Amino acid sequence: MPYPFTLRPLPYSYEALCPEISDTTLHFHHDKHLQTYVDNLNKALADCAPCQRMTLEELLQNLDALPADKRIPVRNNGGGVYNHYLYFDCMAPRSCSRPSGALARAIDTAFGSYEDWKTRMKAAAVGQFGSGYAWLVCDSSRCVSVVQTANQDCPLSKGQYPLLCVDVWEHAYYLDYQNRRADYVDAWFSLINWPFVESRYDGCCK
Ligand SMILES: [Fe+2]
Repeated sequence: MPYPFTLRPLPYSYEALCPEISDTTLHFHHDKHLQTYVDNLNKALADCAPCQRMTLEELLQNLDALPADKRIPVRNNGGGVYNHYLYFDCMAPRSCSRPSGALARAIDTAFGSYEDWKTRMKAAAVGQFGSGYAWLVCDSSRCVSVVQTANQDCPLSKGQYPLLCVDVWEHAYYLDYQNRRADYVDAWFSLINWPFVESRYDGCCK
């Protein structure tokens, strides 16, 4: 994804994730919140030709190499774009599927079982203080782990490859769940697009 960045449509209809996530939430989340990150990222890069030649992933992987006045805007708004696209792409109409293949084996190795991974992922999502995300990431050895990030920080900036994320900013769930973040996370598990996540794992570190 190169500059200028654009708002990509959702990979499903606004009603597709009901009742776990309402069409009202998706309209606000995608059309308003994500659009704002896209616009602000483009504004931040408008006077930086070297930045414009980098992909979104390259920008986030090389924050320290950017001009000093671009690091925070890219961290916040570039992260806002990347993190949201991954969040939306990692969901699909209710599938109740589970991971399979190499990713399932990596999850079993790291956490003991899929259920143990869910426990860790939920604890990370519910326990993230304030706004942020919980992630399943993999490292250069293809080992997977669960991490938290605050605000719009992205694991790419720490050398980790994101496989899956859940957005725990209140805008992601407050209209549907009010203060019940744990209920939102429980519902989110049933929306995970495991074939997509598996394809990211299969492609990472190659
Ligand atoms: Fe969000």
